[in-house]
Amino acid sequence: MGYTEVYQDWKDDPEGFWMDAAQSIDWVKPPSKALFDENAPLYEWFVDAQVNTCYNAIDRHVEAGNGGRTALIYDSPITDHISKISYAELQTRVAALAGALRAKGVTKGDRVIIYMPMIPQAVEAMLACARLGAVHSVVFGGFAANELAVRIDDATPKAIIAASCGLEPNRVVHYKPLLDGAIDLATHKPDFTVIYQRDQEVAALKDGYDFDWHGFQFGVEPAECVPVAGNHPVYILYTSGTTGAPKGVIRPTAGHLVALDYTMKAVYDIDAGDVFWAASDVGWVVGHSYIAYGPLIHGATSIVFEGKPVGTPDAGTFWRVISDHGVKSFFTAPTAFRAVKREDPEGLLIKDYDLSSLKIVYLAGERADPDTIIWAQDHLNVPVIDHWWQTETGWAIAANPMGIEPLPVKLGSPSVPLPGYDVQVLDEGGHSVPAGDMGAIAIKLPLPPGTLPGLWNAPELFISSYLTTFPGYYETGDAGMIDEDGYLYIMARTDDVINVAGHRLSTGGMEEVLAHHADVAECAVIGVADALKGQAPVGFLCLNAGVTRDHAKVVREVVGLVREKIGPVAAFKLAVVVDRLPKTRSGKILRGTMVSIADGKDFKMPATIDDPVILDEIKVALQTIGFAQT
Ligand code: COA
Ligand code: AMP
Repeated sequence: MGYTEVYQDWKDDPEGFWMDAAQSIDWVKPPSKALFDENAPLYEWFVDAQVNTCYNAIDRHVEAGNGGRTALIYDSPITDHISKISYAELQTRVAALAGALRAKGVTKGDRVIIYMPMIPQAVEAMLACARLGAVHSVVFGGFAANELAVRIDDATPKAIIAASCGLEPNRVVHYKPLLDGAIDLATHKPDFTVIYQRDQEVAALKDGYDFDWHGFQFGVEPAECVPVAGNHPVYILYTSGTTGAPKGVIRPTAGHLVALDYTMKAVYDIDAGDVFWAASDVGWVVGHSYIAYGPLIHGATSIVFEGKPVGTPDAGTFWRVISDHGVKSFFTAPTAFRAVKREDPEGLLIKDYDLSSLKIVYLAGERADPDTIIWAQDHLNVPVIDHWWQTETGWAIAANPMGIEPLPVKLGSPSVPLPGYDVQVLDEGGHSVPAGDMGAIAIKLPLPPGTLPGLWNAPELFISSYLTTFPGYYETGDAGMIDEDGYLYIMARTDDVINVAGHRLSTGGMEEVLAHHADVAECAVIGVADALKGQAPVGFLCLNAGVTRDHAKVVREVVGLVREKIGPVAAFKLAVVVDRLPKTRSGKILRGTMVSIADGKDFKMPATIDDPVILDEIKVALQTIGFAQT
């Protein structure tokens, strides 16, 4: 069947479609039905099933006689290390870790925060939690102690599993002091921590509170897989919204298993035994779905890559990894290719490697600009597939379904909605707009299996953030259009979320930090176009009356403050001092207009602007830091 038939199949009988897909999962008790809609507009899937994620990701493959197959390849150019872990070895390691956690009191439903770099132990920690039915929440290593503390207070974990350090090309990231700082800041205190000591930095452990990863496993009984209900959360993953308070996206166990297994073939054209590589980080949703869970559930081999697209050691790293490990489908962010292209525009390093295993490249995380796609297509000679998704959905909303039927690639479009998603472009009144017209992108409810059923500790916020603007729809927060052929185009966010180097960040969160500086009376943060990172944050500061200090000093201080409070990943490096911010007469800051000025784009003078002269002042200020060039 081709894409059109499969999509129609789903539309005609969603219940039958997902019950069919569910057959690829090993259930302790199979679901009696797929959709549970009693609480509409809140929906859940496969609720009455009993199942275990870790069993489906590891044990079932070992029991089927595939224990010798490689589950994970750890490739770390940053430490010059490569190793392989088979499914059978992974089972032993994860069962032992889970047993040790259980011996310390971690049981079904307890939360466990994981704060680790790109090492296989991070995936093992996730799987060990899933084995017990404990709910993990992975926090990206580039976040500061304060952000970690916010997540500790929201998730109230029984334990935190961390590594002693992470490794960035220019520095060692001292995880343990960050972790200690976060626990000090947090109101909730976890019962204990588990620390994986890396050779590059051994952390000091507090007796009776911090347990050594290996030491605490000594002599414990390995844990078996604990069955959980279909709607039991397998994890919580925090993501940026409009304010500084991150939203805890809940991932339900059964839908997650079914959807990921389905997409491994339908989207990525991967079969059991194939090598799949998502060059992301376990701290992001891509890392959850397609480094840790998807490939393993599907019986494939996944690569845990600890390095960067450039500088570890050079712009040929991607090609070396693909060729060394026989990668079939490769997934990265456009920003990573832009970084490679900047260092090796002619793709000369590609020629040093045999890339015959590589069949398809996938891009996501931000809009894939046509130049980057063309560059990759020309140099790699394989299809380069943009696909669009969000932390909330956990898997692609729109993609070229390469495992169903490769469709023609249209540059600038992540192609077509996948089965499960009825995507509509709506005007402000919630009516569908004609093909080719821009509008808010919304998905008709229910969302498919694996997508978020709600937000952790915040049921009202879930409804107000996603289900209220367009009743009967999920509001994606993205704007764009659908063309005559049904291809989607994702053009911009409709909220304060920006995308910096494929990382989703909240300008509202940065504004909250800037506003805390003693000299700042008012501020705004916008995302301006950046040739490498897609977008870069720029801050505007109005200082308190009477502040006579050197403006450059204040700017340096706020830059330091964002790094300290949010983390280096915010990449907040630029700010300017201005007398006033442009606002509407009702006091709303005209951030969109400021973005247009910064990017040197034409814009319509907002009819409700309070004082148009301020826009000239903004332009002059932006020119001092290299933007707003005309
Ligand atoms: N732990 C600690 N710090 C981290 C980190 C981590 N896991 N990841 C990034 N950082 C730090 C970086 O060291 C950098 O710090 P610096 O200001 O001291 O230099 C800062 O956060 C900003 O990082 P980043 O925006 O990633 O910039 P970069 O210059 O280090 O790298 C790219 C640029 C494009 C190479 C890189 O962003 C990249 O590979 N992006 C792809 C992202 C991706 O895969 N996203 C997932 C979606 S698919
Ligand atoms: P995240 O939750 O971090 O995955 O970020 C999701 C957001 O990133 C989306 O809502 C989009 O704004 C953006 N995004 C992700 N993939 C794409 C894509 N292929 N094209 C355009 N924007 C994308």
